[in-house]
Amino acid sequence: MLPSFNMEVNNNAMFSKIITLFCLIAYRECASNYTFPSDFLFGTGTSSYQVEGAWNESGKGENIWDFITHNTPEFVDDRTNGDIACDSYHKYEEDLALAKDLGVNFYRFSVSWARIYPNGYPYNPNQEGIAYYNNLIDAILAQNMTPMLTIYHWDLPQRLQELGGWTNPLIVQLYTEYARTLLENFSDRIKYWVTFNEPYMACNAGYGEVGYAPALGMSGIADYLCAHNLLKSHAAVYHLFNDTYRTRNNATMGITLNSIWIDPGSPEEEEAAERTRQFQVGLYANPIFSANGDYPEVMKEYIGNRSVAQGYSKSRLPQFTSDEIEFIKGTFDFLGMNHYTTRLARNSPPTNNMVSFNSDMQTEMWVNSSWPGGREPIVPSGFRKLLTWIKNTYNNPIVYITENGYGDNGELDDYVRVSYYGSYLEALLEAINEDNVNVRGYSAWSLMDNFEWKSGYTWRYGIYSVNFTDPNRPRTAKLSATFYKNVIANRAVGDYPSLS
Ligand SMILES: *[C@@H]1O[C@H](CO)[C@@H](O)[C@H](O)[C@H]1NC(C)=O
Ligand SMILES: *[C@@H]1O[C@H](CO)[C@@H](O)[C@H](O)[C@H]1NC(C)=O
Ligand SMILES: *[C@@H]1O[C@H](CO)[C@@H](O)[C@H](O)[C@H]1NC(C)=O
Ligand SMILES: *[C@@H]1O[C@H](CO)[C@@H](O)[C@H](O)[C@H]1NC(C)=O
Ligand SMILES: *[C@@H]1O[C@H](CO)[C@@H](O)[C@H](O)[C@H]1NC(C)=O
Ligand SMILES: *[C@@H]1O[C@H](CO)[C@@H](O)[C@H](O)[C@H]1NC(C)=O
Ligand SMILES: *[C@@H]1O[C@H](CO)[C@@H](O)[C@H](O)[C@H]1NC(C)=O
Ligand SMILES: *[C@@H]1O[C@H](CO)[C@@H](O)[C@H](O)[C@H]1NC(C)=O
Repeated sequence: MLPSFNMEVNNNAMFSKIITLFCLIAYRECASNYTFPSDFLFGTGTSSYQVEGAWNESGKGENIWDFITHNTPEFVDDRTNGDIACDSYHKYEEDLALAKDLGVNFYRFSVSWARIYPNGYPYNPNQEGIAYYNNLIDAILAQNMTPMLTIYHWDLPQRLQELGGWTNPLIVQLYTEYARTLLENFSDRIKYWVTFNEPYMACNAGYGEVGYAPALGMSGIADYLCAHNLLKSHAAVYHLFNDTYRTRNNATMGITLNSIWIDPGSPEEEEAAERTRQFQVGLYANPIFSANGDYPEVMKEYIGNRSVAQGYSKSRLPQFTSDEIEFIKGTFDFLGMNHYTTRLARNSPPTNNMVSFNSDMQTEMWVNSSWPGGREPIVPSGFRKLLTWIKNTYNNPIVYITENGYGDNGELDDYVRVSYYGSYLEALLEAINEDNVNVRGYSAWSLMDNFEWKSGYTWRYGIYSVNFTDPNRPRTAKLSATFYKNVIANRAVGDYPSLS
């Protein structure tokens, strides 16, 4: 592990000296000579519920995270919520100044649906909500940054949840009308549109498991219904964009999927590892990015067979019609990818007749105990393998890394996070230069510490720290902010502390 330093590290010069010191005493990784292409874009980002606060201001309605944190406080590890969070609803100009200071090219944020349509139903949009995002977008542009807008980052209006949320097929129309309002009001200035952030977490963790709102816990049923309607919603909005709004600002649109890399637990487990990748990523990627569209064959086979054996008259995985397959296929300009860590997988046939996503998948995952990093192991080689797998499986799409980062308890001298960023950015450079993956941009998650869902404020991803006990929520740069700033300025990774 790292030697500990009790020095104040508050400027670039001191930072470089410390890294050089690491180099001299060999606690370092040597930088390669690779550099990022001149048109490569760097960014950072946040999401509405995690940073905005102002949960009931200016006409905003209640969303599923307001509801679950207010009604079931024990749902969150430290019984907190996003009522105030980073107070970015009021402090967005300060946030953007911090992003600007890093030198990033783009800023990624999401729109809170319940600010635009307080109960979700698409009539009479809340003009104060639209005005807030108009101001935010204008402020991003005024800092010479490019806005990347995520339409949905998990904060569904609560009233729509009461109608079944993403399991109700009507959601396709409701989401499309919400998105149309955003396209009407913002498409003159937005360059990058992301329809959804991490559908796997919204559907599998929120409807299958109980890890995220609405915490439905109907694994093997509701997760698939959610995925089905979400994919149709994505495609409907992509077509709307492509047919009517694209040219307003020569913009592009994609979807952001999350993926851990799945390595086989032993060479014989490659098939199990690939099946796991298909269940985790292929579920959402195959219908949109593959040549044939539709769900992965292996999912249709495994879920179909098991459903029959369980006495269902048809598969628990809904079927697309051939028209729907065509409607969804190819609805992307880029693949947004969020990546954090790696797992191992092996076959694990279910021993009973239980209905669940995991027993459909028939594998289990674990971590290699020799990987460093703790709760989220640091395995940069997994990042590179994932990028190569995306390239080979989906015909080399344009990729933006929309999130990558490391969680900890929040220390300012965050050497482990610096090491994480150094090693992952180095893996990215190798993937670009040696594997020719088509990655065009990278966004560090996150600009600042924020409400980390079920972990509340106990788990921090920020490269800026936020003091949540101070009513002013002051932000302070961590060491990783300085490191990232140098990477962007030099367009190269440079030396960074080693974990071994
Ligand atoms: C980087 O380039 C220098 C000078 O050409 C060379 O000496 C060094 O070995 C290179 N380093 C790596 C990691 O390739
Ligand atoms: C908003 O919520 C706060 C609690 O977070 C409460 O004190 C306040 O009265 C509410 N404001 C309105 C306008 O409902
Ligand atoms: C949003 O767009 C609609 C339709 O173009 C327009 O009527 C409305 O004034 C816009 N709202 C704001 C706050 O600009
Ligand atoms: C539109 O953007 C693409 C890159 O996404 C660029 O190649 C093209 O030149 C742009 N077209 C116009 C008319 O600006
Ligand atoms: C676990 O990590 C060690 C050290 O990197 C490596 O030698 C071993 O092959 C890994 N095991 C698996 C199953 O990947
Ligand atoms: C699914 O059922 C078909 C038809 O009975 C069979 O050929 C196939 O091997 C089964 N697949 C699995 C994974 O059990
Ligand atoms: C997007 O629009 C272009 C131009 O009209 C069209 O050629 C293309 O097929 C459309 N893309 C999709 C996925 O429908
Ligand atoms: C956070 O703010 C509180 C209240 O102003 C203050 O007492 C505390 O020292 C601050 N914490 C840090 C780490 O600066």
